[in-house]
Parts: sequence; structure tokens; C-alpha cells
Amino acid sequence: MTANEDPVLGTCTIEAPPTHPARGGGAPHPEARLAGERRTGAVARGFAGAHPDDVHIWPLRLDLAPDARGRLETFLSVDERARARRFLHARDRNRYECAHGLLRLVLSVYTGGRPEDVAFERGPGGKPRLVGLRGPRFSLSHSDGLGLVAVSAGREVGVDVERVRGVSAVADLARTCFSPAERSALAAVRAPLRLRAFFAGWTRKEAFLKAVGAGLSRPLDSFDVALAPGEPARLLRVWGAPGATERWALRSLRVAPGYVAAVAAVGAHVAIRWQPWEMLAALVEAADGAARARGCDPEELSAVYAAAPPATPRAREMRARR
Ligand SMILES: CC(C)(COP(=O)(O)OP(=O)(O)OC[C@H]1O[C@@H](n2cnc3c(N)ncnc32)[C@H](O)[C@@H]1OP(=O)(O)O)[C@@H](O)C(=O)NCCC(=O)NCCS
Repeated sequence: MTANEDPVLGTCTIEAPPTHPARGGGAPHPEARLAGERRTGAVARGFAGAHPDDVHIWPLRLDLAPDARGRLETFLSVDERARARRFLHARDRNRYECAHGLLRLVLSVYTGGRPEDVAFERGPGGKPRLVGLRGPRFSLSHSDGLGLVAVSAGREVGVDVERVRGVSAVADLARTCFSPAERSALAAVRAPLRLRAFFAGWTRKEAFLKAVGAGLSRPLDSFDVALAPGEPARLLRVWGAPGATERWALRSLRVAPGYVAAVAAVGAHVAIRWQPWEMLAALVEAADGAARARGCDPEELSAVYAAAPPATPRAREMRARR
């Protein structure tokens, strides 16, 4: 487990990625520095040496210090800024800005372009995707101060993270979003473990729905997932699609204490490759200098800033400079 007390990036405990040795805090990982300095060469790097089964999982910290958030905010599109402004509470707005700024930064590692140039469109079921179908597939999820991005070279993926929180009537909630088989499985779980089992089922269902991209247009009781404690994440049955359980992989993810997460991907096998937060943190720190070094088009920047109120001291400072 790493609990970096970083004055710029804030604090949030993220479990050490299981496939990487825990890295000490402090200096950025050499990969991160390389990626920060040479992001334009990153297309090949993003999936260099990757196996087709690989799914990259990037943990995101969303309660970042204002300076870091200000840098991320500069990546957002006019639409994203408008959406951010609609949040009633500053904390929700800040987390949205961090989640979407970090998503753009992550995707720029794969596209090789600038985070602000990443262009999104919606699939038929509303799933966000990169413009042009040949790009990497991704999925974003956020819950409180933690986010996850899953990226695959070409397979549809869905990820979901939820903070385990008190739910007054788990059985009632399960009635609205679990299938009869899942409700029976949940009822059989010992009471002290039931809340966690509920969120395990929830995240697995959401991950599958998000991978399929159908949102809530697919009925929640039209498929069953395994949810009992100790039982591996698995798709058990999809109504009307008998072979689907063999065509989809479902995995639970250990992210941080108090959170439950899962990822779904097309294909019988999936290899989870955790990407270290330190790499993303170094990219955030490099973002400002890198933008200046690239010689950002001032017209382009001013159009973005004109459309958005200067929400952070950093944004105010940048506007004042022009
Ligand atoms: C739209 C939906 C994907 C939102 O899921 P969520 O768990 O509330 O939120 P998450 O943070 O995990 O995911 C949100 C992200 O999913 C992505 N998303 C939106 N629509 C999507 C779709 N049709 N397919 C896949 N991904 C989608 C977006 O990137 C979105 O990020 P944004 O809101 O910051 O733009 C959808 O499944 C939903 O509304 N779920 C409601 C929750 C529910 O009742 N779940 C029952 C589970 S048993």
C-alpha cells in the first residue's frame, strides 16, 4: 500500500498495484519522466510489448491540490467545462475536473497527441469512445475521491469502482438492480459480509454493462454475476446469449480500503496490468512545462478560457498573463 503525502497532488491511499513492486514515493519513475518529456512518441509506448489479453488499469486520485487540478483543467473541452460548472458542490466539480483531465492525460499516452486534443464521441448506447474506431478502447469510473481508467488495445472494456457505503436496506436495493439468482446468492451471504457482497455484485454488473456500452437500456436482471465472498468474479448467465459467458472476462480489482471494483472485457482471458499512479502524477507535474515547451496556440487557449470562468487560482493566473 502507498500513502503518499504529496503537497501538490494531495493524499489518497491507493493500494500498490499487485503486478508492480511497490515503488517508494519521491522521485518520479524513469518511465514517467520519459513519458512526460516525450509524450508525442507515446503511441507505441502505450501498448509497447503488450499482449492482446492485456488490459491496463490506471488508478486516479481525484482530490488533488488546486495547483495540480488547475493543470488538468486546462485539458478540458468547452463541453467538459460547461458540465463541470453545472455541479452544485465545489468538491464534485473538482473531482469531475480531475477525473476528466486525468482521463485525457492517460489517453494521450496511447494516442501520442496532446491531452487537450483527445476527441470523444458517443457509441450507439451512449458509451464514450475515441473518435475513429481504431483507437484504444477505454472505460472510466469514479466514486468519491477515487477513479479508475481501463484501457485495452482493441477490446471493449468496462470498469466500475464504488466506495462501500452504508445502505439502509440492501435487500430492497438488490430488488431493483439484481436478478432473482443474484438476490438468492446475496441472501445466502452471512450478514456481516452482505454489504460488501452487494457492492461486489453491483460493480461486476456495472463493469459488464459499461463494457457492452448499453448503459441501463439493458435490463439489470437480464444477466447474472457471481457475488458471494471468495467466489471469483464471473459472468454466470446472459439471457438470450448462451455463449456470452465464454466470450466475456470479468475480474474484481483490489484498489483501496473501503472500495470495491471490477473490470469486464471481451474475450475469454484478460491480463490485468496495473499502471502506477506515480507515472500519472509525474505527467501531471510535467503538464505545465510541457504545454509551454510545445508552444500552445494562444488563440486556442483563449477560446477555451473565454468560455469558462477562471475556477482556480492557476486558471486565473493564466488568464491574467495573456
Ligand atoms: C451511465 C452509467 C455507466 C453510470 O455509471 P455509474 O456507476 O453511475 O458511474 P461511473 O463513475 O462508474 O461511470 C461514469 C462514466 O461511465 C462512462 N459512461 C457513460 N455512459 C456510458 C455507457 N452507456 N456505457 C459505458 N460507459 C458509459 C462515462 O465515462 C462516465 O463518466 P462521466 O459521467 O464522468 O462522464 C450507467 O451504468 C448508470 O447510470 N448506472 C446507474 C447506477 C445503477 O443503477 N447501477 C445499478 C448496478 S446494479
